[in-house]
Amino acid sequence: MRQRIPGIMTACRLMITIFLVLLVILACPGLSAATGTDEIVCIQCHGTLPGKYAEPVKLWQGSIHQENGIACNSCHGGDPKDAANAMSPARGFLGAPKEKDIPAFCGRCHVGVLKDYLSSHHGKALGRGGPTCVTCHGNHKVFKATLDLINEKSCSRCHSFAQAEKIKAAMSETEKMIMTIETRTAGFKQQGIDTDRLEKGLFAVRNSFHSLFHTVDTDKVVAESARIRAELKKLDDLLNGIDEQLRKRRLFGAAAVAAALLAALLLHLFRKTFDRD
Ligand code: HEC
Ligand code: HEC
Ligand code: HEC
Ligand code: HEC
Ligand code: HEC
Repeated sequence: MRQRIPGIMTACRLMITIFLVLLVILACPGLSAATGTDEIVCIQCHGTLPGKYAEPVKLWQGSIHQENGIACNSCHGGDPKDAANAMSPARGFLGAPKEKDIPAFCGRCHVGVLKDYLSSHHGKALGRGGPTCVTCHGNHKVFKATLDLINEKSCSRCHSFAQAEKIKAAMSETEKMIMTIETRTAGFKQQGIDTDRLEKGLFAVRNSFHSLFHTVDTDKVVAESARIRAELKKLDDLLNGIDEQLRKRRLFGAAAVAAALLAALLLHLFRKTFDRD
């Protein structure tokens, strides 16, 4: 009896500790909520407002920004934790940007894109019929950007589609090459092959490729796409090299297995001869 009491005491202490730890985890919203962006006051209040003031909440749900934790206050500023002062300029609230302020508003985070845009025909026509970021990407329903954004319906709102089509053709060809190389690299990586150099090369090429569009300079896009495809060709050669090595290794492996089998057979025959004696 005497010996069992300390054992029970230890068990009790352990259970109380576990209970307290659980309590702390449940009470702390940062730990129990996956992202936490749904709990900010902007969404709680705007979600219940009528008409155009609730619309942004619905549009933003499922967007690439929501997926990456970029919430209302990340773009509009303000205090997401204090409903009474949420939209106070003193808490950094910026309001909704006017058309000519949109590129700078989005460009706080997309610095490289902003630079290319501002020096382009589009950026130079800002406020005089040129498109802003939201003309092409939308304001709240923003998705991952693809070349599908370049289409006749969207681009011919303001001018002919001819130049746009040339840009799209050059970029599509390059995009296809990038995707093939990506898939092959991933395949090798799965087989445990060191693809570090390939991945680094691909990352650099992709970066320069994806910032290309916003210049909307047809000659530049065509020339740069060709240069990028030449870079990609080098990565392709590297991949072919790995393929060749693997083929040789498989051939060598098969030869080794055959040799081992032959050796075993010879040994067997040798033993038989030896046993008879
Ligand atoms: C308690 C309710 C409430 C909260 C909390 C709230 N809003 Fe609002 N918001 C409103 C109402 C009502 C309007 C429309 C009237 C106005 O502009 O004041 C509005 C308007 C806006 C506008 C448009 C302003 C304009 O210039 O047209 C933006 C942008 C906005 N809110 C963003 C936010 C952000 C970001 C947060 C969180 C940091 C937030 N709101 C929190 C109620 C709220
Ligand atoms: C990626 C940046 C971004 C995010 C995130 C964002 N907004 Fe906006 N919002 C904008 C821009 C840009 C405009 C101006 C759009 C325009 O003129 O087309 C705007 C406009 C608005 C307006 C004014 C609408 C009108 O018709 O006058 C409201 C209200 C608003 N946003 C609320 C919100 C709320 C609430 C959230 C969170 C659910 C949110 N926004 C998230 C960029 C953003
Ligand atoms: C005329 C239409 C148009 C305008 C204006 C525009 N974009 Fe884009 N944007 C595109 C297209 C098309 C792509 C896809 C390019 C690709 O797939 O390589 C893209 C790609 C992007 C990307 C992804 C780049 C990457 O590295 O993957 C971001 C971010 C972006 N745009 C932000 C912006 C911002 C911010 C602005 C305003 C300063 C803006 N865009 C203006 C059409 C536009
Ligand atoms: C507070 C920072 C911030 C602001 C402001 C912002 N974004 Fe983003 N944006 C991000 C992050 C983070 C991502 C996701 C990571 C990435 O792809 O870069 C993203 C992704 C994107 C993408 C997809 C990029 C891709 O890889 O295809 C587009 C397009 C985009 N944003 C456009 C806009 C537009 C248009 C605005 C203005 C209305 C805007 N962003 C404002 C931070 C921001
Ligand atoms: C809101 C209007 C508007 C939209 C939408 C628009 N553009 Fe433009 N674009 C302009 C303006 C304005 C110019 C500058 C005036 C000019 O040179 O024609 C321009 C110029 C261009 C140029 C340079 C023209 C040249 O002669 O070299 C290209 C290329 C271009 N846009 C491509 C596109 C593509 C691709 C899209 C669709 C993703 C698009 N634009 C959507 C207004 C627009």
